[in-house]
Amino acid sequence: MALVDEKLAIDGGTPVKTTKNPPMYPGGLEIGEEEKAEILEVLEHKYLFRYYGPADFPSKVRQLEVEFAKLIGMEYALAVNSCTSALICSLVAVGVGPGDEVIVPGYTFFASCAAIVAAKAIPVIAEVDDSLTLDPDDFEKKITPRTKAVIPVHMRGVPCDMDRIMAIARKHGLKVVEDVAQACGGSYKGKRLGSFGDCNAFSLQYHKIITAGEGGMVLTNDQLLYDRAQAYHDTAACWRPDRFGLPRYEGEVFPGVNFRMSELHGAVALAQLRKLDGLLAKMREKKKRIKDQIADIPGITFRRLNDEAGDTAICLIFFLKDGETTKRFAEALRAEGVEAGCIYSEGVPDWHIYAHWKMIMDKVTATPEGCPYTCHYYTERGGKAEYSPDMCPRTIDYLSRTIHLDIPPQMTDEDCDLTAIAIRKVAKALL
Ligand SMILES: Cc1ncc(COP(=O)(O)O)c(C=O)c1O
Repeated sequence: MALVDEKLAIDGGTPVKTTKNPPMYPGGLEIGEEEKAEILEVLEHKYLFRYYGPADFPSKVRQLEVEFAKLIGMEYALAVNSCTSALICSLVAVGVGPGDEVIVPGYTFFASCAAIVAAKAIPVIAEVDDSLTLDPDDFEKKITPRTKAVIPVHMRGVPCDMDRIMAIARKHGLKVVEDVAQACGGSYKGKRLGSFGDCNAFSLQYHKIITAGEGGMVLTNDQLLYDRAQAYHDTAACWRPDRFGLPRYEGEVFPGVNFRMSELHGAVALAQLRKLDGLLAKMREKKKRIKDQIADIPGITFRRLNDEAGDTAICLIFFLKDGETTKRFAEALRAEGVEAGCIYSEGVPDWHIYAHWKMIMDKVTATPEGCPYTCHYYTERGGKAEYSPDMCPRTIDYLSRTIHLDIPPQMTDEDCDLTAIAIRKVAKALL
C-alpha cells in the first residue's frame, strides 16, 4: 500500500487519488459494436417506426419488449419514450385520476411526483427510512380514504422493503406502481424489481444503468393494465397492434397521448439490455471491494439494504453523526480526489429531495384554476393538500448525514483501493 500523507489534502496535504473515476454512465460508456449493429439494421431496412415500414422487418421495439418482459419475469412489457411517461401510463392504467391521492417517498427524482399531478391526482409525500427508500410505517400512516396507489421507488439502486409495502397496499386495497428508474436489474428476495407492483416503470435515460439516451418501459402481469397503458401511450391505439376496431371491452381504449418509442431507441436499448447483468456484476464487485476495506471504521454507518444480494450497487452510501461533520467529510474527500457528496445541503437545489420540489410545495399548476388540487372530486372527498419543506423531518435528517459515492462499473481496482484509502484517511482525521 502506498504511503499516505496523514495531513488532509483540504489542509494542504497530498491528495490520495489523482486520477478521476470514469463518469457515471454505466451502460452509456459500454456503447459499442452491438449497439451499432442493431442501429445499422434499422437504418438499412429504413424501418424507423415500430408498426410499419417500406418492407416487412421485425420491430426492434417489439423485440425489446419481449426480452425485457422475460428478464424481469413479467407477462407484458410496453416500451415508451421515458420513465416519466411509463409512470403516467402506469398510473392511468391502474385507474388513478381526479380525486385520488398517490403516496410517494420524499426522496426520489421529481418525476415520480410530477407524474402523479400529470395523472390528475394528488401526491402525498412520505418519509424514507435508513434504507433511503419508502418507510413502510409512514406509508401506512399517510393512507386516507382517498388513497388509490403508492409508488415505491427503488432509490439509488436499492430495493424497497417490498414484503411490507405489498402487504400494506393489499390490506388497504391500493395499487402499487414501482419506480425502477434507478434500479434496473436489481432484485428483492430473488425476484427482479418491477415484478412486484401492479404496473411498473423503468427508465432508459442516459444516466441510468442501461440506456438508449431516452426511453422507458412499463411492466405488468395484467392484460387489462397492459391494454390501458398501451391505449394511453399511443393516440392511435385503436389501430394497434394490428387491428382497427372498437374497444374489445369497456375501459380498454380512450383518448391518449403519444409516448411511443422509436425503432432507433429500441435498437440501442435491445443491445444494452443484453449487457445489463454484466454491468451489475461489475458494480457489485467494485462496491464490495471498497466496502470491505472501510467496514470497520467507527463512526460510519452504511445505508441499510433491504436485500443486499439485490442491490444494483450503483452507489455506496453511509451516514455520519451530523450534518456539519458530513459536509466537512465530503469536502475533505473531494480534496483527496474522491468524487463524494452529501445528499442534502440546505440551499443547494436538488430535484431528488421533496423540500426542493418548489412546484409541488407551492402547488403550481399549468392552468390558473389549480386542478388537481382544487378539483371538486378531491375537495368534496375532504381532500386538502398541504406541503412544506419540513413535512418529512426524518428524510431530511438522513439525507443531510449521508456521504454518497457513485460506483461506475468501469472504475479500476486501483480506483477502488484509493477511494477506500481516502475514506480511511478522512475518517481518521474527522471522526
Ligand atoms: C427515480 C426516478 N424516477 C423517474 C425518473 C424519470 O426518468 P425519465 O428521465 O426517463 O423520464 C428518474 C430519472 O432520473 C428517476 O431517477
